Amino acid sequence: MEREKLIIFDTTLRDGEQAPGFSMTVEEKVKMAQQLERLNVDVIEAGFAAASEGDFEAVRKVAENIKTSIVCSLARALNSDIEKAGEALAPAERRRIHTFIATSPIHMQYKLKMKPEEVLERAVQAVKYALNFTDDVEFSAEDAFRSEREFLYRVFEAVINAGAKTINVPDTVGYATPEEFGKLIADIKNNVPNIDKAVISVHCHNDLGLAVANSLSAVKNGARQVHCTINGIGERAGNAALEEVVMAIKVRHDYFKEVYTEINTKEIYKTSRLLCRITGSFVQPNKAIVGDNAFAHEAGIHQHGILAHRETYEIMRAEDVGVPASKIILGKHSGRHAFKTRLTELGYNLPEEKIDILFAKFKKLADKKKEVFDEDIEALIFEEIASE
Ligand code: KIV
Ligand code: ZN
Repeated sequence: MEREKLIIFDTTLRDGEQAPGFSMTVEEKVKMAQQLERLNVDVIEAGFAAASEGDFEAVRKVAENIKTSIVCSLARALNSDIEKAGEALAPAERRRIHTFIATSPIHMQYKLKMKPEEVLERAVQAVKYALNFTDDVEFSAEDAFRSEREFLYRVFEAVINAGAKTINVPDTVGYATPEEFGKLIADIKNNVPNIDKAVISVHCHNDLGLAVANSLSAVKNGARQVHCTINGIGERAGNAALEEVVMAIKVRHDYFKEVYTEINTKEIYKTSRLLCRITGSFVQPNKAIVGDNAFAHEAGIHQHGILAHRETYEIMRAEDVGVPASKIILGKHSGRHAFKTRLTELGYNLPEEKIDILFAKFKKLADKKKEVFDEDIEALIFEEIASE
């Protein structure tokens, strides 16, 4: 069987940014988007253009600066939202409008106060209207997992007929389990008559810690696009973590035989660190793939095994995700050479005079601390850049 490409749709700048404590300025979003492009994500959801002036500006600036990834804006199924999205995305080389409306009984009754037939009509109308601004329209049935199945199939069939190229299946409240979510995707494939004309996408929240597992189960059952965020940030407990989805597919290519991704995995660590620095929120040490302990081997028995044969305790190499391989501990005795090497490993190629300034600051700090960590060095760099 030939592997199919799994489209990586990054929503760090939209769903991720919606979480308390993760808001970003326009400049920060552009910086993050440029790094996401180096990571080679297929789609960057840059924001929700109609949400605020700032969000509009951010989508527009990302659209102006990104050349290869598709730039996307979220829009409710409302003409005014879709117009804002279209306007903000106009400068993009490749643009997508992602329009959504809720389809679950609880959302339709209490939030939208709309009858199912009205929701269906609005969804179709929104997709048709969005096609005035781009031929790449994605439709999300918000709270799809808790929606009534027959209705969900009808909505998807109708929006595909209206021209949606991607239909997205969110588990908005993170309620699904992997088996159930995989079955939902298989059922959509088997019951939506025109499903072959669209890509099935998934968007999983992590309220029960199952977002990545649910996304991967969906892939096994036919999803070919996954929404995810760097470090798994997002509303409440977050979204599926990009680095975990991508590395699971890469490391377990023997199991995920159906797909591959085009993510440049060597950029994963740098992207994770950039997000941490921008938001001031760091991941826990035991976080899979990007946590400080993800590749650290403390126990003697493990160290022994690693030295004898790496794969005794390592299923992937730190270098594959861009984690600095060097284990040199930086402290007050470290020289300029070791310091410069660590800067390069962390992804900073700075002019010599900048390195001199930073090295002097590093020495002062090392006098006060036993060990200088990567975060300390990054803080020094950030401080230096801010003072320019
Ligand atoms: O969680 C959700 O349902 C969403 C949609 C807007 C895709 O974020
Ligand atoms: Zn969401």
